[in-house]
This record gives sequence, structure tokens and C-alpha cells, in this order.
Amino acid sequence: MYRTHTCGALNLSHAGQEVQLAGWIQRIRKLGGMTFIDLRDRYGITQLVVNQDSPQDVNTVLEDLGREYVITAKGTVVERSSKNLKIPTGEIEILLKGVEILSRSQTPPFTIEEESDGGEELRSRYRYLDLRRPPLQKAIALRHKMAQETRSYLGQCGFLEIETPFLIKSTPEGARDFVVPSRMNQGQFYALPQSPQTFKQLLMISGYDKYFQIVRCFRDEDLRADRQPEFTQIDCEMSFVERDDVLAQFEGLILHLFKSVLGKDIPAPLPRIPWKTAMEKYGSDKPDIRFEMLLHDLTPLTRDTEFSVFRNAGYVGAICVKGAASYTRKQLDELTEWVRRPQIGAAGLVYVRCSKESDGVMTFKSSVDKFFDRKALESWARVTGAGDGDLILVMSGERMKTLEALGVLRLEMGNRLELRDKNHYAPLWVYDFPLLEWDEETQRFYAKHHPFTAPKPEDLDKFYSDDPKDLEQVNANAYDFVLNGTEVGGGSIRIHDSAMQERMFKVLGMSPDEVKAKFSFIINAFQYGAPPHGGIAFGFDRWCSLFGGSESIRDFIAFPKNNAGRDLMLDAPSEIDAQQKKELGLS
Ligand code: AMO
Repeated sequence: MYRTHTCGALNLSHAGQEVQLAGWIQRIRKLGGMTFIDLRDRYGITQLVVNQDSPQDVNTVLEDLGREYVITAKGTVVERSSKNLKIPTGEIEILLKGVEILSRSQTPPFTIEEESDGGEELRSRYRYLDLRRPPLQKAIALRHKMAQETRSYLGQCGFLEIETPFLIKSTPEGARDFVVPSRMNQGQFYALPQSPQTFKQLLMISGYDKYFQIVRCFRDEDLRADRQPEFTQIDCEMSFVERDDVLAQFEGLILHLFKSVLGKDIPAPLPRIPWKTAMEKYGSDKPDIRFEMLLHDLTPLTRDTEFSVFRNAGYVGAICVKGAASYTRKQLDELTEWVRRPQIGAAGLVYVRCSKESDGVMTFKSSVDKFFDRKALESWARVTGAGDGDLILVMSGERMKTLEALGVLRLEMGNRLELRDKNHYAPLWVYDFPLLEWDEETQRFYAKHHPFTAPKPEDLDKFYSDDPKDLEQVNANAYDFVLNGTEVGGGSIRIHDSAMQERMFKVLGMSPDEVKAKFSFIINAFQYGAPPHGGIAFGFDRWCSLFGGSESIRDFIAFPKNNAGRDLMLDAPSEIDAQQKKELGLS
């Protein structure tokens, strides 16, 4: 026997009991004639104590012990004289009667405690050691709980969990595919799924009207804190549904996860914001609605001005930052530099400081006093809701770009004013996205969500028009689930008619031959009785990281990749040997 209890189980109620624990030595401290050992497992830490009265063989083994050794230790639970009330086991210690080394350890490359002294790269190389640390163990346990609760909830709602293949033909979701060479079919490649999109639609045609899967997806795209080349989705699809049926079903899942994982009651129904409003009010298609600071359109107020920057701009917009009139010239110059960074790409920033003089009259000090008089600035303050002590920040330029830049500035000011509390959750749905996005570089339309998304029924005339201006205005029957400024999920009602699907591929610039080569399986399937259907996929890693209060999804993936797509522990990707290449027909 290795243990009677775990390292998180014992407390004062066990005092006097003979117990046995097993785990890793986190620390050894010697104090006078006493030695204290912190023994760790994933349940907690228990203090072991050895004194001069302890058996001789215990004292002998003690000389040999080091950090991260795995031991099993027997002893009596006793009350501690100096208690640590921060941990559940902090009122007791184990007076040792026997110790056995189960496995020795080299000196670990970094400290394996709540906080580590190891850098990111070192910890990635020794991920199996980093995973011993309590914050990571907590993150992995949270992920487990999310998965269990998702399965049990969707199972109860009648969803079937069905697996789909990994070795497939490309599924277009907008990223590059990872490909796998086929040995048995030389010169040919499988693609790894960017998502199971086409399979879940085929399952609807097969009659499995409620499907879900917690599934790995693979996308060869540029990585960021919330993007991994392989990540996990809660992927779902339903038949005989319209948008509101899908939203109601998955709002149920969302509320269930909030309650069962975080113990939080979220008021229902969740807010729903059309994409257009999200862009105009928040400058983002994934608005953080934990705070206001909305965008306001000043374009009509700045049309007839000498200030050519505003006069010639497609859009002039502003946010009102409450209480920020005290920003100094230097701080405002820094902010201007910040918005000019290529990531934001704004041409500049105009500001107005609003304050009330002792006589109660409002005064406005702006960086454009030369062009705008008091009356003009007063009208800006009225539109933005600015009052005493507030700062108005104004940007101008091409409409969509400026809305987005103001949206980024809004988030930055929200951070600075500490309005984005990670323990506060503000979920919502965004819907009615544009179906298509025009790409100047390649001179063609791309599907904003994916090519299987249906246009809104009221926009069908425009969808069949050959005028790009009409096509640009077609809305998709698509929706995103957004939490605290992050897109956690996305889905849509699908096209279920082969002719409409062919039309969609044509709009996307695909020739009939190309469509036949790539998508005949789904076009054909649509010809054998396809039910109306729709669904959604949630980014599981992202959702876990938001619930765990972390910026990075890596903490919630046991073995993640770094920003260059490398696994530093495995040293992958790596070369393959000549023989393997030959077998695969690769040169
Ligand atoms: P979409 O491409 O929007 O939709 O993906 C769904 C959700 O997956 C998450 N996600 C990612 N998470 C981590 N790393 C990545 N590289 C990554 N890419 C996406 C996001 C996103 O909201 N088949 C459709 C779904 C559908 O229409 O039903 C799809 O995959 O949180």
C-alpha cells in the first residue's frame, strides 16, 4: 500500500490517526533539531515532521531526500503549534514513523510551487514538471469539469456524441490546412479538419438530428494568446431548427456551465446585438459589454469644417472617457502614438477636455481649438454625453477601419480605468453578420463565416444578383457567442439546398470543375433529402481560459504549442528520415 489518504485530505478531525501519504517533496526545511517536509500531490500539500525522537531509519533516509523525490511516508496526525490557516491541511502535520523513497529526482530546472521562478520557454520544455504546479492542476481540473458538464447537459437534451474522422479532405474555414501524406496513395494527401463542419451537416442528412462532439480542430494560422494550431471545439448541429431555436438551446448550455462550473447565475435571456450595432456602438464584432464608453458618430457635426482631416473623412467618431480630463499633454501624446501603431493604424487622435469652472460654466479645451469653437465642442459633448471631468477622444478616416480603431482604443481605456474585471462576466449573442467579405488583394469575395452558411431569407434577391454592391449587403443567418470581448462560439443556419450551395460557391469565385472536385460529396448529399439545419461550435480552450480568469489558452491545454507552433518538449515539428520520406513518396 502506498497511501491511506491524499495530501489534501487530512485536518484536525484526523488527529491521533495513523496514516500513510504518497507524493512529491516540494520543500525540505531544517529548523534546529526538526525537519519539515512539504509533501505535494494534486489534492494539496501536507507537512511532514521529523524530530530527534523519530526512528533512526527515518532520520537516515532523511539525509538522502531532495526536491521532487517521490516518497511514501507513514506517521501520526498531530495538531501543529504554528498553524497555516490558508490551506485546508494547515492545522495538522504528520509526525513521521517511516519513509520510503519510491523514485529519485534530479534537481528540477525551476521551482515547482504556486509561483515558479522558471521562464516560459524552460517551463514549456519541462511541461510535465510545470503541470505539477497547483495553478495548472486547477486549470486542467476546470477543463475536465467543463467537458463533463457539457456532455451531461447535452446528453440530457438528447444530443448524440458522434466522432468524425481526422484524415479527411480539406474543409474550408478560412485558415490553411495541415496535410498528411498518404503512403498507400502516393502523391496524395489527407487534410486534417479545420472543423467537422461538413461531417456534422452530413449527419443531419443521415437523420441524427441532434449531434455534438468535443473535438480537436487543426488550423495552420498565425498564433496568438487565444489561438493554437490544434484546439478543441464543442461542436454542435441540429435539424429542423431556425436561428432562435439554436440560440435558445445553446443559451441553456451556456447558463448551465456558468452555474455548474462557476456557481454563477446569469440573467437570461442573454443580450442580442446585431453585428451592425456592435460595430457602430462598440467598434467590434465581439464587444466587451462589461462597460459602456460607447462609440458616437460625430460625422454629421464635422462635415462643414475647415479641418480637412475631418471634412474628407468617411467617418468621424468619438468615445467619452469618464473622469479622464486630467490626462496630461504627455499622456495624450503617448496615447496618440499608441493609436498610430501599425496594429491599430489610426492617423491620429483628437481630444477634448471637459471641465466645469467655479461659476458652473462648462469649458472645453481641445487639440483642434483652431477649427472648432465652443458651440461645436459643446455639441460633441452633448452627443457623447461628456460632462465635468470627462475626456472626449475623436478619430476619423475610412468608416469601418475607424470604427475598429475606436473599438481598440475603447478597450485600452477600459483597461486603464479598470473597467474590465475578469471576475465579472457579460455574455451576449451577436447576429446578422455580413455573408461575404470583399478582398481587394485577390479581387474576390470570401465567406465571412464559412461557405455553408445560409443568407438571410429576406436577402435572397441580393444573393442571386450579379452586382457586387448587392452581394456585399447580403446578411448571413449567422451568430456568435461573445464573452468579455472574446469570440467564444460561432455558428449559423446552413444552406440545405444543392442549387443554393452551388450558387454560394460561384459567388466565392469557384469554377464548376473546382466545386465538383472539392465538394461534390455535399452537393450530392443535398439531393437526397436534406433537412433544414443549423448549429454552432464553441472554442472550448477559450471558454475554459475565460472561466479560469486567464488571458492565455495554453494554461488550459495539457500539452500546448508555442507561438511558433512548436512543441518544445517533444521538439516537434522535426525532420523525418530518408526511408520514411521514400515510403511516403516525398522528395
Ligand atoms: P469558427 O471558425 O468560428 O466556426 O470556430 C468556432 C470557435 O472556435 C474557436 N477557435 C479557436 N480557438 C483556439 N485556437 C484557434 N486557432 C481557434 N480558431 C477558432 C473560437 C471560435 O469562435 N465550423 C464552424 C462552426 C459552425 O458553423 O458551427 C467553425 O469552426 O472560439
